Amino acid sequence: MNEELSDTTKRAAPVTLRTLLKMVRGGEKFACLTCYDATTARWLQEAGMHMLLVGDTAGEVILGFPNTIHTPLEFLIALTAGVKRGAPATLVMADMPFMSYQADDAQAIRNAGRFLTEGLADLVKLEVDRSFAPLVAKMSRAGIPVVAHIGSRPQHAKMHGGYYAAGKSAVTAIELLDDARAMAEAGATLLLVEAAPAEVTAQIVRESTLPVIGCGAGSACHGQVVVLQDLLGMSAWQPAFALPTVQIGRQIADAAQHWMNLVASGNLGEHSYVMNNSERAAFQVALAARAAAAAEPNRS
Ligand code: KIV
Repeated sequence: MNEELSDTTKRAAPVTLRTLLKMVRGGEKFACLTCYDATTARWLQEAGMHMLLVGDTAGEVILGFPNTIHTPLEFLIALTAGVKRGAPATLVMADMPFMSYQADDAQAIRNAGRFLTEGLADLVKLEVDRSFAPLVAKMSRAGIPVVAHIGSRPQHAKMHGGYYAAGKSAVTAIELLDDARAMAEAGATLLLVEAAPAEVTAQIVRESTLPVIGCGAGSACHGQVVVLQDLLGMSAWQPAFALPTVQIGRQIADAAQHWMNLVASGNLGEHSYVMNNSERAAFQVALAARAAAAAEPNRS
C-alpha cells in the first residue's frame, strides 16, 4: 500500500522545536498543515512538512459537525497519536478542544499533559486572550509547550454569531498586541494569529520575542498554517488565503465512479486466492456428496 513512501527514518533529522527556532533565527519560513490521520501524516512528512496541526477542525472535517466546539477530547487525543505515529520526525501540535481547558486550570493542565503523553504531541495549542495568561504560565511551569492561538478564535464563534475576523478596528488591534505580549510574558512557546489584518500581525511579529504562525493573518509571520482539505480542493468552502492547489475531491469522486463501473462489469482484475488441483478435486467430491445427501433427506 505504501510502496512509494520512503522509510520515515530517511529524513535527515527530525524537526524539533529547536529546528523551528533555528529556522526563524535564520529568516527561513516554516510551513504547517492540519492533519488528522497516520497515512496522510506519512505523506506530509515525505514532502518535508515542518509541522503538523491536529486541529479541532477535525470535528468539522472528520466528524461533519458544523463547527469546532463539538470536537471530543478523547477523539482528538487518539488522532494526535495516530498523526505522530505516521510522522514521527515531524513536529506535531495538538489543539485542545472546547471545554478541555476553559473551566478549570488543574483539569486543563492534566488534559494538556494527556496530549503530550497519550497523544505523543510536541506542543498543545489553546485559543486564548490575555485573561488566560495565568493558565499558560502554569502549563509552561509544568513543562508543557503552549502555542497561544490569538485573534479569531473559532471556539468563540457562538459569541459572534459565526466565524469572525479579529483586530480590524484600532481598539481591537491594540488588544491583539496586548494578548500577544501577555502570552509571551506568561511563557507561551509560539503564537498563532488567526484571521487578522496583515499590518496588525506584522506589528505582532515586530514586537514579539516568539515565533508567530499565521492562519489568514498575512505574510509577515514566521510560519503559516492552513487546513489541508482546503489546499487539496476537498472542502465545500475555503477561505481566500487557502485556495486549492489540486482537486483531490474531484479525483476521489472520479475514482469512486471508476470502481462502481468495475463492480458493475465484474471486471475486478486478477484473482489471487486460488485452490490447488487436489483441493479442487476434493471440493468437487464433497459437493457431490452434499448434493446426494440432500436428495435423500430421510436417510440417517
Ligand atoms: O483547528 C484548526 O484547524 C486551526 C487552524 C489554525 C487552522 O486551529
